[in-house]
Amino acid sequence: MSYVEDPGPGHGSAPPRAAFTSDAPALPLSGTWRFRLFSAVAAAPAGVERDDFDDSAWDELPVPSMWQLHGYGTPAYTNVRYPFPVDPPHVPSDNPTGDHRRRFDLPASWPAGPAVLRFDGIDSCARIWLNGVELGVTKGSRLPAEFEVGPLLRPRDNVLAVRVHQWSAGSYLEDQDMWWLSGIFRDVTLLARPAGGIGDYWLRADYDHTTGLGTVRVETEADALLAIPELGVSAHPAGLPLELPVEPWSAESPRLYDGSLSTAAERVPVRIGFRTVAIDDGLLKVNGRRLLLRGVNRHEHHPRTGRAVPRDVALADVLLMKRHNVNAVRTSHYPPDPAFLELCDEYGLWVIDECDLETHGFGPLEWERNPSADPAWEDAYLDRMRRTVERDKNRPSVILWSLGNESHTGPNLERMAEWTHHRDPTRPVHYEGDHDCSYVDVHSRMYATHAEVESIGLREDVDPRRRDLPFLLCEYGHAMGNGPGGLLEYRELFERYPNCQGGFVWEWLDHGLLAGDHFAYGGDFGEAIHDGNFVIDGLVFPDRTPSPGLVEFAKVIEPVRIEAAPGGIRVSNHYDFVSTAHLTFTWVLESEGIPVEEGILDVPTVQSGQNALVPLPRLPATGGESWLTVSASLTSASAWAPAGHVVGWGQLPVSRAVDVVWPVGRGPVFRTGGRLRLGVGEFDPVTGRLIALGGHPVRGPRLDVWRATTDNDRAESASEWWEAGLHRLQHRVIAVDADGDDLVVRTRVAPPAQASGLLTDYTWTALGDRLRLRVEITPDGLAGTLPRLGLTMAVPGAFGSAEWFGGGPGEAYPDSRQAARIGRFSRGVDDLQTPYVFPQENGNRVDVRWLRLTDAEGTGIRVDGDPAFDFTARRWTSAALEAARHTTDLHAGDLVHLTLDVAQHGLGSASCGPGVLPRYRLQVRKTEFTLGFGVAN
Ligand code: GAL
Repeated sequence: MSYVEDPGPGHGSAPPRAAFTSDAPALPLSGTWRFRLFSAVAAAPAGVERDDFDDSAWDELPVPSMWQLHGYGTPAYTNVRYPFPVDPPHVPSDNPTGDHRRRFDLPASWPAGPAVLRFDGIDSCARIWLNGVELGVTKGSRLPAEFEVGPLLRPRDNVLAVRVHQWSAGSYLEDQDMWWLSGIFRDVTLLARPAGGIGDYWLRADYDHTTGLGTVRVETEADALLAIPELGVSAHPAGLPLELPVEPWSAESPRLYDGSLSTAAERVPVRIGFRTVAIDDGLLKVNGRRLLLRGVNRHEHHPRTGRAVPRDVALADVLLMKRHNVNAVRTSHYPPDPAFLELCDEYGLWVIDECDLETHGFGPLEWERNPSADPAWEDAYLDRMRRTVERDKNRPSVILWSLGNESHTGPNLERMAEWTHHRDPTRPVHYEGDHDCSYVDVHSRMYATHAEVESIGLREDVDPRRRDLPFLLCEYGHAMGNGPGGLLEYRELFERYPNCQGGFVWEWLDHGLLAGDHFAYGGDFGEAIHDGNFVIDGLVFPDRTPSPGLVEFAKVIEPVRIEAAPGGIRVSNHYDFVSTAHLTFTWVLESEGIPVEEGILDVPTVQSGQNALVPLPRLPATGGESWLTVSASLTSASAWAPAGHVVGWGQLPVSRAVDVVWPVGRGPVFRTGGRLRLGVGEFDPVTGRLIALGGHPVRGPRLDVWRATTDNDRAESASEWWEAGLHRLQHRVIAVDADGDDLVVRTRVAPPAQASGLLTDYTWTALGDRLRLRVEITPDGLAGTLPRLGLTMAVPGAFGSAEWFGGGPGEAYPDSRQAARIGRFSRGVDDLQTPYVFPQENGNRVDVRWLRLTDAEGTGIRVDGDPAFDFTARRWTSAALEAARHTTDLHAGDLVHLTLDVAQHGLGSASCGPGVLPRYRLQVRKTEFTLGFGVAN
């Protein structure tokens, strides 16, 4: 059987060992290589390994890279299904094969002797030659492989040839939900391995929280000496354990001690973080404390380079996570570039390091012939786990090993767990697919509903083993499109039940690929089978702009909570380890959103898990509706954010607006020039619709219940809504009653082909310079839920500036609104849009007391709530938003379309997981609400 279809691991490589750098010479071989793509293994030429092979007609390709993103073949996206016939271990004969060649000279100082060629990642299988000699074959795309090359090296003109196959037996083990992309996508390095150097080492640094002592144990075959200057350790024989008082490492306080391991031949810098992971009393603890994982699942992706992610992008991810209160990462579903884990050590993130394994595509085939249960694949499984553990064993941030994802269950997984337990007893093993937890140490689920989590929290599980394990959600809060909703309710469960130790939102980022002026997703490359925009399900957009989902998550998981409490302000510390000593508390009093006074709030240091009641500051009297906002921010700059960065905030009402005060003086309705006039409004006498407001032409407000369906809607309620015809309501005017002071318009609003509808009465009254609109909605046979409930109207496109007092600054929905604070905000209409890669409902602002929409001169209209409403403002209709497939399908028209709502249906996360919680479902019911309309100038 050809190596390509051999289910075993590759061959020829050196035993796996830790990723580290040292003072031994290293030669990076990234850069420009020669490249040619062939359509099949058999089409690739013979002799590419030879010195005299002529590659002068070949193209040039950067390494690291993924060739589909450089114009060779096309990316393809599937979630579960294999894009080739499931006939393991066979793969298509049409197997794109990329030959890569590179010549290199050794630096003059390069030492003679042993050396290895290290490949940090090649997707999916490669055969490698140096100077005409075959080194071997590697599989396991996201895992390193090293080949001994010392005797083969020559001072000048070394020829390295790497033949990469898109498909291999390994592809059956790499069915992660992501783009199929190929190539040498991580670094290639030549490393001198001095005789008497440090081949491998394992530095375990434990921490005993009861004594404050750290213990260092180094396992290495080398006769090495350990130095930790900061701890006064120099030349300590590495083989002997060392115990000494230290500060522990945690994600919140990632204390690292710089040190070194040296032999006469080599010096390896080490960064030591002291911490001990334990499962104790059924809880996952580090250094004696229960952890609450406020995590995300992170794939490696960049919109231009795919899974070739440079260190600065990895750093940008870490900084963005830290600034949004994220404390944990699951490296879904493969070990990341080693640089990412070094950053997790340095900046502080708890990591579940997951092996490169997923066989999900066997699921739809009833798991028949699933490699997890087939002995032919056992070596490959073990090889992958070994390479994961050996590579990353020195990282203090790694607290759990994960066997992989969605590979069902079977003896090969059990063997992986067994090997891991034996090799590294210091870290528990995770694998969600071991449903009865027979070979893992933590109970893990994905997308469990709130009710299921609660039941696990109550220890109602009938399986005694599972019941007594710590529980985590390796995936929850599916962040596809607009959402997720319901994060707050998960947090409440994690705080209520100690064994529910948090989880990892699916997922960190949208895997959109840049295609001209928009982001592409599945199907955009003409794939025969694909899963569309299911790959666009992150908390950050492909360019790493935070989505509203991330802003919400950051608020929900804030480590310091500030709330109104009887007698003052309650400050609670939700860190797992640190106190609030590094934070400064500031307050600002705002009246109608305008700052009146600010100051520092004197808060005593609050220890982890504790809270303090602080009296309100002395506040001046204010008019109007006033709020006190208290923020906890970093007193001095941290490694990941500047001084002043806010980690938590809360708002307290100081004086609530009393009932809305309407202007006095009623005006009568009169007819003039074929129109009805009422105060500042002009109406169509036949339809009863407002057609001008203060002289500005408008398409007056009328009932609307539709929103451009979200990904989550389409997975839950949208089919009912479409069936009910809610997207195409018709308005029948029953009567326009224009007598006296009120203009009363009675309508019946109903979908075609249905007998049910909504009786809707609009009562307009002129009060001073304002029009008051009272809307009464009475269901006439209509039942079920609605996408939203309110009005739609349109105003001139020139009214492109919005200012409002209410919830903001970002969008919010009933089950995702923790991040909206009450304030005064202004945004251009264009900036009110959230550019979801797959266009859908977005941009809703909640709790709005008043809204002004004006032109460049400040002229426009004003809407007042009684007391509040939700709004969106867009340059396109909901129908156009719904029809769009990419952001570039949306074109500004010459109107601004406004929705003014009394309610919205929640978001939920049904695109993968639970739908909208009952309390956030918008049920049809009799509803009345009032809005004011006037002129802004
Ligand atoms: C999970 C899977 C993830 C992803 C997610 C849906 O089942 O583990 O890889 O596919 O669903 O986006």
